[in-house]
Amino acid sequence: MTELVHTRADLATARADCKGTVGVVMTMGALHSGHETLLRAARERADHVIVTVFVNPLQFGPTEDFDRYPRTLDADLEVCRRAGADVVFAPSVTQMYPDGQPSVRIDPGPLGADLEGLSRPGFFHGVLTVVLKLLQLTRPDLTFFGEKDYQQLALVRRMCRDLDVPVEVVGVPTVREPDGLALSSRNRYLSAGEREAALTLSAALRAGVDAAEAGADAGAVLAAAHAAFGAGTPGADLDYLVLTDPDLEPGPVAGPARLLVAAWVGGTRLIDNAAVHLAPRP
Ligand code: PAJ
Repeated sequence: MTELVHTRADLATARADCKGTVGVVMTMGALHSGHETLLRAARERADHVIVTVFVNPLQFGPTEDFDRYPRTLDADLEVCRRAGADVVFAPSVTQMYPDGQPSVRIDPGPLGADLEGLSRPGFFHGVLTVVLKLLQLTRPDLTFFGEKDYQQLALVRRMCRDLDVPVEVVGVPTVREPDGLALSSRNRYLSAGEREAALTLSAALRAGVDAAEAGADAGAVLAAAHAAFGAGTPGADLDYLVLTDPDLEPGPVAGPARLLVAAWVGGTRLIDNAAVHLAPRP
């Protein structure tokens, strides 16, 4: 049985009924198989699963898609039921921010100012502030985040470590369409032509991964990814394509690394990333 609650008070009551370990999956709704995979991972690891569905105004810039972000609570509940969630917390903005916009917010530090943070100022302040609030309200043992939003996952881990938040942050691999496109709630904004152009992101990552597997060094991996991006169906406007270490620090020259891409396709901003393993230098 999946219980739907809208208020902090009802959430507190439902939380008190959870005996054993609690896993939390935070979402903005418009749930797809990527979210469902997070729910199933939580179901496997925790005795109770709480899902939060909240389109967080704090993480949208003034020109971003807060108003038109898809809100599909009935369908979301169906996904939560199917995946065996125990509680769905779908608060209103007033429930989450009873005193209006919070004047104290989490500062994501230098990592939050780079990549997504460069194009979306204030974005990670908004994300980490709501994530910390939801962790306080749900008090989970485990919380599950997708690798799809790799910088978000890294920052949530960092926040929990730096601020001694007593929760295990579990990363879940990206779920993709058969043709490689990473699932995203924003994919529904794409026209058929734009969807074709959007494949350029995963194709670029694939080319980088393949080059690394063939023994290419960091420079050649990036070059292969750029070439594949350029060769894709026109319509994707590159924001960044970078190779970092797994903690998003600059570099690396060898060993485990992360290739990350962001691009605009029409009015939609898309991101994706992949693990690459760079061969040791001779
Ligand atoms: P949202 O975009 O709804 O994503 C919720 C969670 O689902 C995130 O952890 C995200 O990384 C994960 N996810 C999305 N697409 C995925 C995919 N294709 N494969 C695997 N996991 C995927 O991220 C947010 O919401 C918000 O910023 C939030 C953390 C809820 C704070 O408001």
